[in-house]
This record gives sequence, C-alpha cells and structure tokens, in this order.
Amino acid sequence: MSKAVVIIPTYKERENIERIIPIIEEDVFPQVKNYQMFILVADDNSPDGTPEAVEAFAKKYKNIEISSGEKKGLGAAYIRAMTFAIEEMGADVVFEMDADLQHDPAKIPDFLEKIDEGCDMVIGTRYSDGGSIPAKWPLHRKAFSVVANLFVRTVFMRFYIHDWTGGYRALKKEVFLKEKHELTKFSGYIFQISFLHKAVRDGFKIGEVPFHFGERSLGDSKIAPIGYIMQVITFVITTRITELQRVIKFLIVGGTGFIVQLVFQEFAANVLFVSVIASLRDGLSAGFGAEAAILCNFMFNNFWTFSDTKHIKQNSHFMHKLIKFNLATLLSVFIQFLSVYLFVHFLGEDVMLFGMSLKTRIVVLFPTIILLVIPLNYFIYNRIIWKTHHLKDK
Ligand code: GDD
Ligand code: MN
Repeated sequence: MSKAVVIIPTYKERENIERIIPIIEEDVFPQVKNYQMFILVADDNSPDGTPEAVEAFAKKYKNIEISSGEKKGLGAAYIRAMTFAIEEMGADVVFEMDADLQHDPAKIPDFLEKIDEGCDMVIGTRYSDGGSIPAKWPLHRKAFSVVANLFVRTVFMRFYIHDWTGGYRALKKEVFLKEKHELTKFSGYIFQISFLHKAVRDGFKIGEVPFHFGERSLGDSKIAPIGYIMQVITFVITTRITELQRVIKFLIVGGTGFIVQLVFQEFAANVLFVSVIASLRDGLSAGFGAEAAILCNFMFNNFWTFSDTKHIKQNSHFMHKLIKFNLATLLSVFIQFLSVYLFVHFLGEDVMLFGMSLKTRIVVLFPTIILLVIPLNYFIYNRIIWKTHHLKDK
C-alpha cells in the first residue's frame, strides 16, 4: 500500500499541535482506506515544549515522527522534512499543512482522491468556488490577500491556478525529488510560490481542492508581512523577466534564421537546382534553405538563447547536440519541402498577391513557418535539445 506523510511544520506551536494531532489521528486517518498514513512534525527546536508534546504523542500513536533541526525558515524546514519523509519513512505522497488548524484536516481525503485521479501536486485553494478566507478578517487584510494572489496569477499569466501562496498541499515524491535542488535558496515562506512555479513549469499535473481558510485561535503567526511581500514581488517579477527574455531572444534568432533561409533558398533555386522541374526544384530549395536556417539557429540558440541551461556533463556535448538537433528538426525541413512542393505543384511557380506576382516558394514559407515550424521548434528546443538537465541527487 502507498504511504502518505502529513508534514506539519512547527515553531512554538505546542497548544496547536496538541489539538491537531488527535483530530488527524482519530477523525481523519480512519477514513483513508488506500494509503498508510503518517504524521511528521518538522520542528525547529521550539523552546515552548512543542517537541516534547510530539514525543509524547509518538508513544501513543505509532505513526508519528519528528524531524528536529536548526531554525532556518519554513522552506528549509519543509525541505528537510520532505527529504526525511521520502528517504527514511518511504513516503510516496507528502502533505504540507499548518499546525494552527487554519487548514482543515478533514480535507485530507480530498487531496488523496485528486492524487489518485492522476494529479502530481494538489493545491488547497482559498480563492476559488468552495474556498474562502476568514469572514471576520478586516477589509484591508482580505483585500490584500486577494490582490496579492491576483498579482501573482496575472504576472505569471497562469490564471488556472487559484492559490499560489497557500501552504495546504499534497504532492507525489517525484515532484519534490525533481525540484528539490532548485528550492534550497527559498528558505522562507517564498518556498511555496517557487515550488509551485517550478512544478508548473516542468509540466506536472496540478489539481485543486478548495477549502475554507480558518482563523488562528491559539499562538501567533510567524510570517513577517513586509519582508514576505517584498520577496513575493521580487520573485514573481524576476522569474517572469527571465521567461520573457527567452521568448524575445527566440524571436530575434528566428528572424535572423528566416533571412538566412531566404538567401540560401534563392541561391539553391537559381543556381543549384535550376535544371530540376519547378515544383521539385522549389521544394528542394525550400528544404535546403530550411537546413541552413536550422544550423544558424542552432548556433545562436546554443550560445545565446538557451545558454543558461545546465547540462549533466559540461563539455563535449556540442556535436552530440548538433546531431540530435538535426534529427529532431528533420521534420521541419521535410514539412517545408512538402509544403512548397505541393503549393508550387498546384498553384504554379508564381502567385498573384496584393496585385503583385510573387514567387510561390517564398509566399508559402510565411504560413508554413508561422503555423507549423515555429511551434514545433519551440517545443523541440525546450523539451528535447536544451532541456534543463539536473544533477541527480545522491
Ligand atoms: N519548523 C518551522 N520553521 N515551522 C515554521 C517556521 C519555521 O521557521 N515558520 C513558520 N512555521 C510553521 C508555523 O508554526 C505554522 O505551523 C506554519 O508554519 C504556518 O505558519 P503561520 O505563522 O501560521 O503562517 P500564516 O498562517 O501567517 O501563513 C499563511 O500564509 C502563508 C503564505 O500565504 C498560511 O496559509 C501559510 O500556509 C502560507 O504559506
Ligand atoms: Mn497560520
């Protein structure tokens, strides 16, 4: 049976942990049939008796563990605890959940259901139908909470995720193992946004469970609002700029490639393949031009657009990549050959457009490249050639 570990980070939460553990153990875990359930408290040596309270529970319930460590922030505590849950406790799924009962433990089975439906990461959301923030919050706090999330959703242009900052989640171990090494620099609450952003970027399937975010009745919030807001703004904007830069570079490279393509195509049509019949000549010339453009794009993209991607082995990959690149883009050479061949075959060498007689082989390139080649190439570049490889954790 699969194992799921509910990780509860704590710093000075003795009263809360004493309330939440019996609720989870007595009311929630018995409802879960298809997972073996555990609790892991990630405590940073709280001086108020939190770890002692957890030790006492661990004697009563055999499925409770504690991971103690130095206080380095919420993100650092989660990274330490998730590593422990996966490596030492054999977790297949881990939960993130606050100790203060603002995250209703009764929702745990809903998260697991989403995982069983095929989601890799499930987000508890306060800002979609069925979710909410406390009605008693003063207006400015409500407004801030809603605006902050809307800001993140807008800047990221990913509206389908309704809650970027929350800390009630479940995820498969694969998601954590893949992103772990990139998360170490996000040691505070910013861990939440950055983790979700990377999971989305890497194509993990995200699900949502709406929930009512309760009020904290005991103890104090540990968040430092101003510092946190600054971190969120900085993170979201710098991340977005990096993503946009790549798109802009890609467009510049593409434009240059197009000119190279035209020059080589016309050279081929007028010199190399002059004696071949028109449709075949123009098709071959288009393929020839496409190959020249591909080589040009490869150089640019390798040394510029995607130069920041890390590779498992640093050197010696150039030829290997070039060959792989050519194989992957053969399809687009063929598409351009075929498209020009067919159009010239059926429409003739020249077409009338805007009252001018133009070479079919040139006109056809525009729709072909825009509709087929660019989307195909962008996909191949990102997913195959300059895929960001990560060093495997030992
Ligand atoms: N181990 C450890 N170390 N635990 C910590 C630390 C830390 O440095 N800082 C906070 N925690 C624990 C708290 O004890 C609590 O159980 C949980 O993390 C959440 O902290 P709160 O202090 O209750 O945060 P909040 O309710 O103000 O924050 C809300 O907003 C955040 C940002 O949107 C919650 O929804 C969080 O889940 C959310 O990430
Ligand atoms: Mn809280």
